[in-house]
Amino acid sequence: MEAIQACLFDLDGVLVDTAKYHYQAWKRLAEELGFEFTEQDNERLKGVSRDASLQILLEVGGITVEEEERKRLAERKNNWYVESISRMDASEILPGALEFLKDCQANGIKTALGSASKNAQLILNNTGLAAYFDAIVDGTLTSRAKPDPEVFLLGAEKLGVAPSACVVFEDAEAGIEAAVRAGMRSVGIGSPAILTKAALVLPSLEGFSADRLFQELKAAI
Ligand code: BG6
Ligand code: MG
Repeated sequence: MEAIQACLFDLDGVLVDTAKYHYQAWKRLAEELGFEFTEQDNERLKGVSRDASLQILLEVGGITVEEEERKRLAERKNNWYVESISRMDASEILPGALEFLKDCQANGIKTALGSASKNAQLILNNTGLAAYFDAIVDGTLTSRAKPDPEVFLLGAEKLGVAPSACVVFEDAEAGIEAAVRAGMRSVGIGSPAILTKAALVLPSLEGFSADRLFQELKAAI
């Protein structure tokens, strides 16, 4: 197995806990449309693009709308979401994430962001995370959503590193699948019962280090 040269990170749920803001905004939209959107329903939206998320939400509510109205609803949700993330700061970086990014840099491992979000840049700027990436690939640069490997393959290309030397960090099943399809190893952040295809699953990045990454992935493959 090739030596690890780069780590690619999903944003929402791996580096920052923005899932709660997405949920609040979708829930508000559902309430306006006259139905309830539960936290369990919201699980289905993790890692899924904005348009696909709206589609799922409308399915839950049993509502069909025209293309124009769909665009308006997605924009309405996004405006509320942007209002929330505009207030974010470094205190909302998930435990261990910043330390691990710094440890990657200290060990000569390149880093890239691989996120489906079109709001990634705002979050990176507000939290100060932007400074820790050699390349940023987000929803404004990609056209195919995870589990398509596009976002990670583009990240590897920008870094000039072969996919087989990359490790992806992801909290969504679709994201792990995207890593597998890209020919990359992956570390799941969350539950081993859900992230079954990841080489290694951690509850969070807290206490994790580049050394442990080298050791554990060698052991896992
Ligand atoms: C992903 C989130 O990172 O980005 C999804 O997990 C979200 O929940 C998607 O829908 C798109 O985000 P945005 O900010 O472009 O609406
Ligand atoms: Mg995620």
